[in-house]
Amino acid sequence: MFEIAVFSTKKYDIEYLNKFNVDNKFSFNFIEAKLCQETVALAKGADAVCVFVNDNINKKVLETLSDFNIKTIALRCAGFNNIDLPCAKSLGFTLCRVPEYSPEAVAEHTIGLMLTLSRKYHKAYNRVREGNFALDGLMGFNLHKKTVGIIGTGNIGKATVRILQGFGCHVLCYDPSPSEEITQLGANYVALDELLTNADIVSLHCPLTPQTQHLIDEQAIANMKNGVMLINTSRGGLIDSHALINALKTRKISLLGLDVYELESELFFEDLSNTIIQDDVFERLLSFPNVVITGHQGFFTQEALETIAQTTISNLTCLLNGKSSGNELY
Ligand code: NAI
Repeated sequence: MFEIAVFSTKKYDIEYLNKFNVDNKFSFNFIEAKLCQETVALAKGADAVCVFVNDNINKKVLETLSDFNIKTIALRCAGFNNIDLPCAKSLGFTLCRVPEYSPEAVAEHTIGLMLTLSRKYHKAYNRVREGNFALDGLMGFNLHKKTVGIIGTGNIGKATVRILQGFGCHVLCYDPSPSEEITQLGANYVALDELLTNADIVSLHCPLTPQTQHLIDEQAIANMKNGVMLINTSRGGLIDSHALINALKTRKISLLGLDVYELESELFFEDLSNTIIQDDVFERLLSFPNVVITGHQGFFTQEALETIAQTTISNLTCLLNGKSSGNELY
């Protein structure tokens, strides 16, 4: 039986991984802590480690895992910006991920943020609960006929475009590797600048890489329409948070929806309701009335969790038996 050290474990990980651990092929060591230099010792004796979005798999962690003779890492997510890939490769690690578990889960959450902001549901919810049925201040706008810019047209970007077409939006896309499906859906590829200049709503769906770090910076924001809505359900590091705060103060950005944040690893997935949050940038973002933030829950649907667990178990079964899973990172 293979032993797997599962880091960043939550109740739902235990439930879904156990559910699909048919014939008890694996012995899971469920560890609440994130994988990092301070916790890597907990993996000793395992055959593989299983990690999530905010585990920090840097050079030191990889070297220690290698010393423990652990050479297999299974990500229970699609993004892999938290791994030092060149180092993992040079140390001979095999890495696999869950490339596509439910693009619709994230796409639907993206649309949820757009509608919450455009129709002010977050304010209406509180108002009605207090018996205040006045509509002043709740006027929204239609998504119909708005121009929406989609940056990154992979699985999630495409799923988002499909939904937006149903709303009757005019969809502009930017991706260095264009997909024919987008044009078949009736959307158009344009240069990034053209997208930023023309979109009423900009939504990010590209991975975080050294090239895309702070893709949305002061200059990119300056290129956007005045009063633009910006949505990020991809990775926090795509946006320079300081530039964002300035743009919110001047109302250049009039509506902001975030499911991810640059320094989320210190905050998200934990109940911090009784602690004093030390991150002033995050707290400033939260203070704006025209900002809605969710704590990286785009992926969090039953369907997605089932696929994540099934694919992770299938990836581990292949890799630990020396076979290809098709989901290796290189
Ligand atoms: P994908 O790999 O299918 O698509 C990514 C697309 O981005 C590709 O078409 C690629 O060519 C494009 N791209 C690369 N560099 C770009 C650039 N500089 N500008 C524009 N496009 C660029 O990935 P998928 O499944 O669509 O996921 C996208 C991102 O969503 C992931 O990288 C991850 O960070 C995030 N994500 C967030 C989740 C959440 O719960 N909020 C859950 C799952 C993924």
